[in-house]
Amino acid sequence: MQLSVNGALHEIKSSADTPLLWVLRDELGLTGTKYGCGKGICGACTVHLEGSAIPACTVAAADVQGLAIVTIEGLVPAGQIHPVQQAWLDAGVSQCGYCQPGMIMAVAALLRANPNPTDADLANNIGVQCRCGTYPRVIRALRTMVGR
Ligand code: FES
Ligand code: FES
Repeated sequence: MQLSVNGALHEIKSSADTPLLWVLRDELGLTGTKYGCGKGICGACTVHLEGSAIPACTVAAADVQGLAIVTIEGLVPAGQIHPVQQAWLDAGVSQCGYCQPGMIMAVAALLRANPNPTDADLANNIGVQCRCGTYPRVIRALRTMVGR
């Protein structure tokens, strides 16, 4: 099995039904993608599949062969910072940080699809749970990014 991750093709030894999350973390060492619920609920494992945000815990590795997978490590080239990451730094969003890779991947995908989201779009489309309750700072950072 081969997977395209962060622009490179990888030979994968994990069994075909292994969730993508564990291929990324355990086989490829891309530990920025986090495990939370394992059930597609919390969003900690959010990655991009063909540009859309998906929970990596719910898809089998075999089902994403031939599709472009991007993790937080590949969101921008090494040494660069994504505008969402810069906005997060400016607003001091992160607390413990555990949910933040998934949150940033979800927001990056949302803004690519909809560069001028309403507050309702923001509230309804960032399905990442944050136990630290960073939501007010998330909304503040997002409003700054979209010029409100
Ligand atoms: S670990 Fe994948 S959605 Fe929670
Ligand atoms: S920053 Fe701690 S869980 Fe979100």
